[in-house]
Amino acid sequence: NRRYRVAAIAGDGIGKEVMPQGLAVTQLAAQRFGIDVEFVHIGWASCDYYAEHGKMMPDDWKAQLQDLDAIYFGAVGWPATVPDHVSLWGSLLKFRREFDQYVNLRPVRLFEGVPGPLANRQPGDIDYLVVRENTEGEYTSVGGLMFEGTEREIVIQESVYSRHGTDRVLRYAYELAQKRPRQKLTVATKSNGIAISMPWWDSRADAIGKDYPQVQVDKQHIDILSARFVLQPQRFDVVVASNLFGDILSDLGPATTGTIGLAPSANLNPDRRFPSLFEPVHGSAPDIYGQGIANPIAMIWSGALMLDFLTEGQGQGRAAHDAIVQAIEHALAQGPRTPDLGGSASTAELGQAIAQRLQAG
Ligand code: NAD
Ligand code: IPM
Ligand code: MN
Repeated sequence: NRRYRVAAIAGDGIGKEVMPQGLAVTQLAAQRFGIDVEFVHIGWASCDYYAEHGKMMPDDWKAQLQDLDAIYFGAVGWPATVPDHVSLWGSLLKFRREFDQYVNLRPVRLFEGVPGPLANRQPGDIDYLVVRENTEGEYTSVGGLMFEGTEREIVIQESVYSRHGTDRVLRYAYELAQKRPRQKLTVATKSNGIAISMPWWDSRADAIGKDYPQVQVDKQHIDILSARFVLQPQRFDVVVASNLFGDILSDLGPATTGTIGLAPSANLNPDRRFPSLFEPVHGSAPDIYGQGIANPIAMIWSGALMLDFLTEGQGQGRAAHDAIVQAIEHALAQGPRTPDLGGSASTAELGQAIAQRLQAG
């Protein structure tokens, strides 16, 4: 029985509050299903570390992480002390790029018992996967500021889409769609307005789609796609998008299910050459940090995605994943609930309720 070694990086703000709940539930599920996980606790990749060292991470961060099996990550960002682009480009965005985590898989699901903002929606009406390109696109360092401080000031930031980078995320999305009962893939583009790169995205989607004739493809402009997330969420099964479009859709989708506090994500290097990273979609939430009321479900569910990915091809990871998701479903239906879910429970109370359910079942 092999041992999986996983870096636990809590980061900043509520990352530090949800991490203990995530670790407890993930470890409990791992033990119950005979998966040997050892967490390696890491204090850097945080704005606290920055305050002391003037940088987000030690210089040998890559050597310290690259032989581990995964990274379990809370959230980074404390804009009161470190500008966001400095903290994020100094940590999370480096991991995604350097470890070639080119798929950011973000499930969106409406749960029983969670009050959502959409009228007359049942669990099952909102149940799709956002596949976000995670290493290129609109997130680049290509550009610059000219004539700074004058009236002629100009800022340029390029978007970069490689054929390799686009094809591989499209292929991942087609594969995923093909395995699901509805076999539907929505491609988010904007080929009317962004008239160079987005028609090209559409053409790559057609080219890769030739290998997946069973998958029903629907290309939609990002603006109307966003409206349909709200008006017709049942249309969606797998949604593939560029880095920025996927970022926006993966906050909008969870918002339609009541809260972003339960949305998980898997930043995957599907080739398994580097560790993959599992984290909530949400950030460090400075506005609620310190009160102990953050919803821990996004962190816990991300742990479930991690166990599934780590042990792929063997049944126990999938079983551990399903047991965690069932414990989450049960807790959401029965309470206790954190304030974002309409209750007044603490992070620890909700986390412990999920842990107890997992132990009982
Ligand atoms: P945020 O996700 O941190 O918070 C947005 C809103 O959602 C806030 O009102 C917050 O209280 C609420 N919220 C978020 N998570 C919650 C939870 N688990 N339970 C209950 N409520 C929750 O987004 P933001 O305010 O734009 O960003 C704050 C900081 O986090 C910034 O520094 C930002 O760059 C960073 N950030 C980091 C990540 C990441 O590490 N992956 C993701 C997003 C934002
Ligand atoms: C996310 C976050 C990050 C992103 C930020 C913090 C850089 O919003 O993981 O969705 O834009 O990818
Ligand atoms: Mn985001």
